[in-house]
Amino acid sequence: MLSDEQNRRLTQVGAGTPMGELLRRYWMPIAAVAELDDKATKPVRLLGEDLVLYRDHAGTYGLLDRHCAHRRADLSYGWVEGCGLRCHYHGWVWDHTGKCLEQPFEEVANPEARFKDRVRIKAYPVEAKAGLLWAYLGPPPAPLVPTWEPFTWRNGFVQIVFSEVPCNWFQCQENSIDPVHFEWLHGNWTRVLQGDKGPKPPTHLKIGFEEFEYGFVYRRVLEGQSESDELWTVGRTCLWPNCLFTGGHFEWRVPIDDENMLSVGWFFDRVPNEMEPFTQDRIPYWYSPITEARTGRWITTHVMNQDFVAWVGQGALSDRTQEHLGESDRGVLMMRKRMLEQAELVARGGEPKAVIRDPAENACVRLPIIGREYFVGGYSRANSDKRRERTPGLVQRKDFPFLTGQPEEIRQAFRRAMGLDTEVS
Ligand code: FES
Ligand SMILES: [Fe+2]
Repeated sequence: MLSDEQNRRLTQVGAGTPMGELLRRYWMPIAAVAELDDKATKPVRLLGEDLVLYRDHAGTYGLLDRHCAHRRADLSYGWVEGCGLRCHYHGWVWDHTGKCLEQPFEEVANPEARFKDRVRIKAYPVEAKAGLLWAYLGPPPAPLVPTWEPFTWRNGFVQIVFSEVPCNWFQCQENSIDPVHFEWLHGNWTRVLQGDKGPKPPTHLKIGFEEFEYGFVYRRVLEGQSESDELWTVGRTCLWPNCLFTGGHFEWRVPIDDENMLSVGWFFDRVPNEMEPFTQDRIPYWYSPITEARTGRWITTHVMNQDFVAWVGQGALSDRTQEHLGESDRGVLMMRKRMLEQAELVARGGEPKAVIRDPAENACVRLPIIGREYFVGGYSRANSDKRRERTPGLVQRKDFPFLTGQPEEIRQAFRRAMGLDTEVS
């Protein structure tokens, strides 16, 4: 059982808090690259800070304080001009480094004063990778944005899905090291929701956890399987500090503030060999709703929606002083311990785990991946039912299984990429 103080330490994300400082050592995904094709600015709340994201006309990304340093107007209503963002209130212009480029009336009234050289706005670096925009809120020098192995794969249909979930990020990340929930929250519950049809999902017989350089691996032996199955020999990854990696997709739990989390999903579907070569000039993104419009209840139909229901059900900030942990929670305990210890390390001025600074290491960061040869080499359409290794026990859906509300044009682009609407000759 945790004390109140430990619970607070694990969950607060503001600047100056132990976990807030630890999380500021890592790049966080905050938007899709394609989002800024559709709108010039995006208001962002990250780690309790209100910011605005934009791309200037030179193609450089900026992430500034949401509030103009003049008299605090909301810069997400500003507009991009040349190499800066112009405030809609009095026309001051800021660049991506936080420098003030123009102060129209000050330059007329008192040009010699060069007041603009003496004001700055808070600015953070942004980088594009894998169709995502990443922000770094920590002290310089910024580390590298990790090139996780799937970001280097070819011939896949990638899509990015965002959902805003009204609870603390850490209870979501605890789910990334919780194999047993799968059998119940996804397997059994889906079966019940669908009227108890079909076979029961296999029971977990054994679970194991192990720390490695980039996080933790969790392993499982399910009824009908053995320790020679990849679910045990390879396992799945709880990626440090705030992500779940299953092999085919990533789920980042990005802290908006203490009581809200942005779920960022990055999904890779390998196209069949017959559809190669396949490339995307734009990685599509969409926002998935989490409540049913009619009833106001949480949506329960899709895998990650079911996760969201569990997480928000724990309360905006789960009260860990009231828990009763068992054998299934060994991984959760390991991760909490390491988080608190790493937060202390940062407070003492140390470099925490999984910060990547070496370009050679970052050329392609390998992770444990079940069925790697499938993702890399692909498969022929004749074998398409073996298309994706999944954990047994899930009732299969015909549509995108993870989140509700996939737009029709993305569904169609996916079907075209996979060759699902064309006959095999
Ligand atoms: S508040 Fe932005 S220019 Fe005045
Ligand atoms: Fe889950």
